[in-house]
Amino acid sequence: MTDVTAEKSNEVKATAAASGASATERFQAKERSEAASGKERVSTLASEVLAAVHDVIRRHKVTYAEYDALKAWLIQVGLDGEWPLFLDVWVEHVVEEVNNEARPGSKGTIEGPYYVPGAPALSADAALPMREGESGTPLVFQGQVRSADGTLLPGALVDIWQADADGLYAQFAPNLPEWNLRGSVTVDEKGTFRIRTVEPAPYQIPTDGSCGKLIAAAGWHAWRPAHLHLKVSAPGHQTLTTQLYFRGGEHVTDDIASAVKPELVLDPAPAADGNGHEVHYDLELAPEQ
Ligand code: DHB
Ligand code: FE
Repeated sequence: MTDVTAEKSNEVKATAAASGASATERFQAKERSEAASGKERVSTLASEVLAAVHDVIRRHKVTYAEYDALKAWLIQVGLDGEWPLFLDVWVEHVVEEVNNEARPGSKGTIEGPYYVPGAPALSADAALPMREGESGTPLVFQGQVRSADGTLLPGALVDIWQADADGLYAQFAPNLPEWNLRGSVTVDEKGTFRIRTVEPAPYQIPTDGSCGKLIAAAGWHAWRPAHLHLKVSAPGHQTLTTQLYFRGGEHVTDDIASAVKPELVLDPAPAADGNGHEVHYDLELAPEQ
């Protein structure tokens, strides 16, 4: 047994490298649709991205030292496995915006790099898998899944994943049980669910990798507000990928991933049994097009 201090610093060090590598592996294993873009669209998108880069270089008269620093940094992002983190923090929110702006029902937001399919199946009234004495304020999260027109959806699945009270995600940080704070909840015949969990902590982008290096070099902060991740699906409906935040929580108003929307901020109340908080949030899915 190592002493606790050594174990702790070890854990923090392992997190950036391990989470980058795991996020890259996870993304590579994910089923992706074949590129749906023809030559013309690829050419347009690539030309316009390059033109935007050229424009920045001209406007700011970028030096050779800066060009080399950029090259070295881009190479290192790949070596660190941090492309999923980089893209999901600084790019995904706009992709989500343009794809879902006209969709009826609950607001979506970014998925981020830490979803893992196949979480333990749970009944409509269940506790997420957690360690004995899992730290964090207890939270009961309940609600109802409906179609955007109000129809109840008893066949819905609510996939939920979150960080623990240290801001760490199972399977991307060391020393956590495989499915800690991850579950796939089948709602009941009224479309309702009642999930017992603990409140997550704000999440810090790993500071010792390339993304952390950019954040430090630019003088930004590295934080996302505490959040619950959800993927809600039901037959005949579009899957809703979203996140829920906690009103008044740190970084709700300055999320580094720009993923907070006013509709996604929860107002938890003291739990009826005096133990932690409870909150009700309904989820509405858009019919398939
Ligand atoms: C990242 C992490 C998250 O938990 C999230 O929700 C979004 C992005 C990231 O590190 O890229
Ligand atoms: Fe997250």
